[in-house]
Amino acid sequence: MSDAQSPSSMPSASGPVQQPGKPAGARIIAITSGKGGVGKTFVSANLAAALARRGQRVLVLDADLGLANLDVVLNLHPKITLHDVFTGKATLDEAVIAAPGGFSVVLAGSGMVEYSRLTPEVRNQFLSVIETLTPRYDVILLDTGAGISDVVLFSVSLASEVMIVATPEPTSLTDAYAAIKVLAVQQKRQHVRLIVNQAARPGDGRAITSQLQQVLDRFVSTESGKPVRLLHMGDIPVDPTVREAVMRRQLLLLQTPGCPAALAVSQLAGKVEEALLHRAQ
Ligand SMILES: Nc1ncnc2c1ncn2[C@@H]1O[C@H](COP(=O)(O)OP(=O)(O)OP(=O)(O)O)[C@@H](O)[C@H]1O
Ligand SMILES: [Mg+2]
Repeated sequence: MSDAQSPSSMPSASGPVQQPGKPAGARIIAITSGKGGVGKTFVSANLAAALARRGQRVLVLDADLGLANLDVVLNLHPKITLHDVFTGKATLDEAVIAAPGGFSVVLAGSGMVEYSRLTPEVRNQFLSVIETLTPRYDVILLDTGAGISDVVLFSVSLASEVMIVATPEPTSLTDAYAAIKVLAVQQKRQHVRLIVNQAARPGDGRAITSQLQQVLDRFVSTESGKPVRLLHMGDIPVDPTVREAVMRRQLLLLQTPGCPAALAVSQLAGKVEEALLHRAQ
């Protein structure tokens, strides 16, 4: 899907006639990755809580349609999911659930093979869900699946901003590079934001960003001929309390707000707010 068709380019999401700090609709941010299991769902849920604590109206949509697990991390047992909305069994309003942490979620079902392929029905339903939700929130986080499948790329195309989560492992970085390349070429993204999760040392993220940028500069250019820019949003350190929180199915930000990973997510929320939510233009 081209940018021209996506809600991110519609007036409600990016229109210029807005009061400073008061966007007309939600900023839609995709949280995605090349490799799986790098921390997208952890970041989405905890970033949502941190943004909500800052007074933002936040919704997280589980865009990992076939293999959803946001509900697991939040210890929610949804009766109604996006699948019910897509198939007309429930309304979207019924699918919006309050999550611990002061934000809303729309959850997806798991083990649904019908969402492993992008069909016109899924596209249209997804688009209509986003269009309906956009005016109601300040920010919508899309917790996407990993990789560069049609479904993942489509969900990312619905966002005006993309945040790639990567760990310092070479496999994760190789896959992050591949995902960024596809986003630059196929979606004509001029910039992509990077969160380095499970960082071993302070400064890891900056070094990784500049290494990846060098490779992108050499091998990837956007349609305009300009190289795609990688913007470093922050690092989250490797922290055993993250796993403990997931095991207890609790939000890290509520369980241990003072631990290093929670502090890093809070800092990330400040940066997201500053860079993306206070739109003065
Ligand atoms: N900063 C961290 N420190 C330690 N462990 C972490 C950290 N971030 C994530 N993890 C571990 O990685 C696991 C996977 O995280 P998560 O489910 O958020 O990844 P994901 O990218 O959403 O995976 P998938 O691609 O399957 O959707 C977590 O359950 C947690 O145990
Ligand atoms: Mg996930």
